Amino acid sequence: KVIVLDCGSQYTQLIARRIRELGVYSEILPWDTPYEEIAQQSPKGIVISGGPSSVREEDSPTVPEDVLSGKVPVLGICYGMQLIAHMLGGVVKKGPFAEYGKATVNVTDPNADIFYGVSSPLQVWMSHWDYVEQPPKGFKVAARSESGMIASIYNDDLNVWALQFHPEVWHTQQGSKILENFLFKICKCKGLWDLEGWIDMMTKQIKETVGQDKVICGLSGGVDSTVAAVLTHKAIGDNLECIFVDNGLLRMNEAQEVLKVYEDLHLKVHAVDAREEFLSALKGVTDPERKRKIIGEIFIRVFEKKANEIGGAKWLLQGTVYPDVIESGKKGKDAAVIKSHHNVGGLPEEMDLKVLEPLRDLFKDEVRRIGAMLDVPEVILKRHPFPGPGLAVRCLGEITPERLDTLRKADKIFLEEIRKEGLYDEIWQAFCVLLPVKTVGVMGDVRTYAEIVGLRAVSSQDGMTADWVKLPMELLDRVSRRICNEVPGANRVVYDVTSKPPSTIEWE
Ligand code: XMP
Repeated sequence: KVIVLDCGSQYTQLIARRIRELGVYSEILPWDTPYEEIAQQSPKGIVISGGPSSVREEDSPTVPEDVLSGKVPVLGICYGMQLIAHMLGGVVKKGPFAEYGKATVNVTDPNADIFYGVSSPLQVWMSHWDYVEQPPKGFKVAARSESGMIASIYNDDLNVWALQFHPEVWHTQQGSKILENFLFKICKCKGLWDLEGWIDMMTKQIKETVGQDKVICGLSGGVDSTVAAVLTHKAIGDNLECIFVDNGLLRMNEAQEVLKVYEDLHLKVHAVDAREEFLSALKGVTDPERKRKIIGEIFIRVFEKKANEIGGAKWLLQGTVYPDVIESGKKGKDAAVIKSHHNVGGLPEEMDLKVLEPLRDLFKDEVRRIGAMLDVPEVILKRHPFPGPGLAVRCLGEITPERLDTLRKADKIFLEEIRKEGLYDEIWQAFCVLLPVKTVGVMGDVRTYAEIVGLRAVSSQDGMTADWVKLPMELLDRVSRRICNEVPGANRVVYDVTSKPPSTIEWE
């Protein structure tokens, strides 16, 4: 196992993912984790991530001194390199300019293990302002950027290695080779982390943990809950009872399609038709946060009722994945709640169930790969994320059956055309919103007065930031014509050309 100490870089998760892709299990811990806790995990190596701070500032992240004592090999990346230099007595300064983006690096010490088999010069991804002017005593320089700045230092007696650039980013040529050198040459890792093995290990573990107990879970049609359920079903069969709540806020035909998939996967599913209950509670409600709150509360009520009917469950299965775990660990630090998210996750503590989270160590792409190995079909694995409150936050203003109907029809057309164009898999999310604004139109010789459909398509890695997608004009044209012709209740179509930030992905 390799531990990544997170100093706040946007690339921290990427470092951990790359290490796992190379066959070594890795976990992320906050920079201020006490050394005893790190040592308890017996890591074969420690990576110190980049970060937005400067070691010249007070209160900037720092790692326990023991990390650099030579017991475990260390790789510092970007801020991590500056921190190592700073902690061991080198000199870190603010450069005359920031180095951001592609840069060329020359390996000046080909004997440094970290650059074993790496050809020089190489293109790398840099993103820093501070630089190491003078390495600490005992350290050698292994590479410099074209401008002569230090790009890598090391001390092989201490087994401490550092890079100013980001080997985890795709734009860095031979980045994997460099990480491999760290993992296998320097840390002597074995590279046994593989997902097939993980499935066997985890099914066994689930069996041992829950024994003959009954487990319940909420299925949403999303990747995480589905994969968690299929895996658990593999372990304990029909002692897993799944609940699927139709809240009346799903896309066109979605409930039926998803239930069919679950049937094919042989899951034991109790479908609850709670459409009436949700829609009547939402009557007259226009405030987005109130919508979310109501939906969350009713979901819990409906789920609880069904669970009691089933009876006897001791465990609640949840599809928590590793980024959720990391995010919630950070909660105290960046406390700004932009939108309250109600997932199947937000289930009542009063239910007094023990929580089972078999996917909590996995990244999303690992969950997808495991899903594929467990024969979960692509319609689920490649599905765009869909918010828990569903169409409620896409039907701006009041939610009525008629307006939901308009939205569903428009949304279906948009997705149909995107699929036809072969663009679905390239897009993070694509959907329609219905605006509670009427505008005037003319169809044939008749004046119309109807609402506006907004189209939204974004690309993203994790939903935290997103770019609007430059969809082909002809596609937009086709979608707009079809919506105006085929969907009653709408007579105008607009395309959202804002990224996140400053907007969010959803409109509410
Ligand atoms: P925003 O709109 O905040 O969305 O940029 C980021 C991601 O989160 C999804 N989202 C939600 N998911 N419950 C959810 O389960 C919610 O209330 C919710 N609001 C937004 C959104 O679809 C996007 O993927």
